[in-house]
Amino acid sequence: MPHTTTPATDVHAGPTWRIASPRGRLVTIEGVWGAGKTTAAQLVGARLRRAGFTVQVIHYGGEPGSIGRLSAFLERSPLRARTGLGGYAMPHHSTIDVLLRLCREAHHHVSCFRPALAAADVVLVDHGVYSKLAWALAVLTETAPDTDPARTLQHLRAVVAPWFCEPDVPVYLDTPWPLARERAIARGRGGGDPAAIERLLFLPRYTAAYRQVLAGHKDQVARVRVGLRAAGDVAEEITGRLLGVLRAAPLSATAPGGR
Ligand SMILES: Nc1ncnc2c1ncn2[C@@H]1O[C@H](COP(=O)(O)OP(=O)(O)O)[C@@H](O)[C@H]1O
Ligand SMILES: [Mg+2]
Repeated sequence: MPHTTTPATDVHAGPTWRIASPRGRLVTIEGVWGAGKTTAAQLVGARLRRAGFTVQVIHYGGEPGSIGRLSAFLERSPLRARTGLGGYAMPHHSTIDVLLRLCREAHHHVSCFRPALAAADVVLVDHGVYSKLAWALAVLTETAPDTDPARTLQHLRAVVAPWFCEPDVPVYLDTPWPLARERAIARGRGGGDPAAIERLLFLPRYTAAYRQVLAGHKDQVARVRVGLRAAGDVAEEITGRLLGVLRAAPLSATAPGGR
């Protein structure tokens, strides 16, 4: 896929970001599985490039080394496997599951997002970052229903604070989860298993948790209604909104589109 960056291409880039301040804008495309994030990121990336910006679209591809092995473990292990209509296949250690996933996410923020931000005007993340907090919140509140979700979110935010790259513009694709699920099934991968009852049960909670996470950033969030609109139309709206932000506060004197 052109202009797509996979994480950890330069694992030694770490110290650089501590010295050089990031110059680009971080734009994350947020939404549930099948909401249209990857599709929108590719289309918006192309449009922003045509407008003269340097853009990196970040998509989690193959991951090398220990992060790859961690990913494989998280995807294939029975930690989150459910059977039938309820319950997990075995005791679900949600805190450990969440922590391991956040370790992987920390790697992406530090080794992938930050170097990309130092090199491009716009870094577009096609799977969201608040999505990870929303997922964690949904899982933790499910397994500890007596704890106040606001408090759980507060704890999560504290855990990720040292490395989390807050997006300048989180674009939330507001696709109703039943429609997103249909599209994920039609796509045939990444949640596309019609028998994946886990997702059917999980999606309403995940959507609610997502809204809770985004509510903490409502001044930044660009909410885009997707519904039955064509992907190109959605991308046009996102691009227009991003160009507005980029041109209102240019990155530097030479930033394209900033005049
Ligand atoms: N606006 C749209 N209208 C119809 N189908 C769409 C639209 N956006 C995306 N799709 C299709 O829906 C499926 C899921 O989209 P994708 O971008 O992969 O979602 P995500 O990255 O959020 O999981 C894909 O098959 C894609 O082609
Ligand atoms: Mg995707």
